Amino acid sequence: MYIKKLKLKGFRNYVEAEFEFSPLTNVIYGDNAQGKTNILEAVYLFAQGRSHRAKSDRELVRFGEDFARLSVDFEDSKRSYSANMQIVKNGRKSVSINHVHIMKLSKLMSYLNVVMFSPEDLNLVKGSPNVRRRFIDSSLSQMYPLYLASLMEYNKALNQKNSLLKMLRAGGGRADPTLSVWNESLAQSGAKIMEARRGFVKRINKAAQKIQNEISGEKLYIKYHPSIRSEDISKDAIYEYLTAREAREIDMGSALYGVQRDDLEIFVDEREARLFGSQGQQRTSALSMKLAQAEYIKEIKGEYPVMLLDDIMSELDINRRMYLAERIRDKQVLITSTDTDLIDKSTDTKLFHIENGTVI
Ligand SMILES: Nc1ncnc2c1ncn2[C@@H]1O[C@H](COP(=O)(O)OP(=O)(O)O)[C@@H](O)[C@H]1O
Ligand SMILES: [Mg+2]
Repeated sequence: MYIKKLKLKGFRNYVEAEFEFSPLTNVIYGDNAQGKTNILEAVYLFAQGRSHRAKSDRELVRFGEDFARLSVDFEDSKRSYSANMQIVKNGRKSVSINHVHIMKLSKLMSYLNVVMFSPEDLNLVKGSPNVRRRFIDSSLSQMYPLYLASLMEYNKALNQKNSLLKMLRAGGGRADPTLSVWNESLAQSGAKIMEARRGFVKRINKAAQKIQNEISGEKLYIKYHPSIRSEDISKDAIYEYLTAREAREIDMGSALYGVQRDDLEIFVDEREARLFGSQGQQRTSALSMKLAQAEYIKEIKGEYPVMLLDDIMSELDINRRMYLAERIRDKQVLITSTDTDLIDKSTDTKLFHIENGTVI
């Protein structure tokens, strides 16, 4: 799949701008703080429904403006799409695809697929578990809208359970029947989430292993490490697991078990990379995982996602850069960089020089 055109109006530091992308490599270059990442952020918004870095939509609207308008034209092997988004500073954002209003953001995700790779992702290996959970969730949510729905349901119930646990702890630690209502709800959505995550890790492993082997000859192994340590991940088994641990959760005043604490363990040559990997091994593993994410999307959807590479070239050594360049050569990729020397420019490469929110 590829993006033909992106238009921004009142978005971040753009007054008005239009980009016509090549179906292959696009290099967005310029000094720091000129608006390069803002372009990738705009694309990401259409794919995931929310920004990869803004805490609230308000930040996305240009200072002094009341709303932002974005549009993107893209196509896959079957058809073309034209999507519009309006972000109102003091209101909601609305999205339409081919003139049909999209009511739920989870519906938006199945149209435009992207894999974003930013310097922060080098933390996939050594960073905190939430970086790895986000990696799993963004992959699964793009492929399966129902996964995202379960996740949202789960988080709603989790918030309620946490408030209740805090209250129970403050009130002297007695159990309360409402707790089992929340556990029931968490077991129901949690079972679906765990099953999906288990399946995802199994699939991504194969691709990531192959890629890591090609880059460095190392043996990569990714293991799902669920918070709920049970082979049986049926709804009933999870409910029992949670019920058996109610007292401990009340003691702590917060939910200690469940998919909100899941993690991945990443091994390179049989050793846990987070603890024992060299920086090089950790970077290779992160790169392998991200490229495997693209393969995963291709496998399920039959289309490669658009690759968004934000400023990562300077973080990779020449071998990894060359491997990456080879791998993405026939796919659409938007690369930002302050230094165009780091990027392999074939004749198909389209360059965009960004200065202070304008293409020059
Ligand atoms: N809502 C906004 N309105 C106007 N300018 C903004 C807004 N949000 C961010 N910016 C500006 O955008 C620039 C950062 O853009 P970014 O794409 O992150 O830069 P880079 O080129 O380094 O990737 C900064 O100059 C910042 O002040
Ligand atoms: Mg940037």
